[in-house]
Amino acid sequence: MILVTGANGQLGTQTIDFLLKKKSPTKIAGLVRSESKGADLKDKGIEIRIGDYADYDSMISALQGVNTLLLISSSTLDGRVQQHQNVIEAAKEVGVNHILYTSIVKADQKLSPLSSDHAETENLLKESGITYTIYRHTFYMEFLPLFLGNAFETGEWAFPSDGKAINLALRSEMAEVLAYGLTEADNHKNKTYEITSGTTYTLTEITHLLNEVAGRNISYRDISVTDFRNALQKIGLSEEQIAMSLMTATTFANGALEFTSDDMKELLGRKPTGLDEFIKELI
Ligand SMILES: NC(=O)c1ccc[n+]([C@@H]2O[C@H](COP(=O)([O-])OP(=O)(O)OC[C@H]3O[C@@H](n4cnc5c(N)ncnc54)[C@H](OP(=O)(O)O)[C@@H]3O)[C@@H](O)[C@H]2O)c1
Repeated sequence: MILVTGANGQLGTQTIDFLLKKKSPTKIAGLVRSESKGADLKDKGIEIRIGDYADYDSMISALQGVNTLLLISSSTLDGRVQQHQNVIEAAKEVGVNHILYTSIVKADQKLSPLSSDHAETENLLKESGITYTIYRHTFYMEFLPLFLGNAFETGEWAFPSDGKAINLALRSEMAEVLAYGLTEADNHKNKTYEITSGTTYTLTEITHLLNEVAGRNISYRDISVTDFRNALQKIGLSEEQIAMSLMTATTFANGALEFTSDDMKELLGRKPTGLDEFIKELI
């Protein structure tokens, strides 16, 4: 039995949809935090397991009979490593054979404020002795509109990058790669993959791409993380929204996404969708 966690989330749902093209629904289970969150998955014929990473006992029950586990990193940042540790320890106790985990690109170099949790989880996974496959994801291309904020209305994209380029990849293609990994887990034993698309772009280059396709004249302004924080506070965003935006800004400005690898291309069996193609679709 394969268990996909975060099964009602975006990445989990898309991974399960790809997996259903390869495997019978009777071989797939999805972890959700309540019955109601599993309703759509049940309609697809998938078994629902109820569990919360923060609740070790619930994970022991949820993981019964699971051979291969896709642990999608928690979206709740509070105590994230402890949550992941609960899942890994529960998996070890019930005898899960192989864990696939979604991390962040170059987690061990700790270039992003998000890296530490992932690096610690990667270490826990390796120390557990369970066979692992780590997929170190770059940021989702689908989030570009979010990063752009109101640039199309104001004609200016003010965002920190400190001149660094970024790599974005499609979450839907990351899901496809994960589904291949779950289907042929034995081919990916104890491997760590850097999941990126083929090209990095500076934010100035992204603005040029947008202008070219949309026929606009938006300009990019590289602002400091401090100025960005002040601007977000002025428009009255919640503390949580500000914290998330600052993590993204710091990740860009530290050059954490200024990186490409061929891993995704090899695992997908084709060139991953580039930002230029995505922008054409988006506009
Ligand atoms: N690479 C990127 O650009 C990027 C961007 C954002 C997030 N991420 C990371 O990638 C993960 C997957 O992305 P996504 O787009 O699928 O996010 P998403 O749509 O927010 O899904 C997150 C999933 O994790 C589940 N979850 C959160 N805390 C949990 C817990 N304590 N126990 C059990 N399940 C829990 C959520 O369940 P509920 O519905 O019950 O909350 C949800 O199903 C995120 O969780 C985050 O770690 C990556």
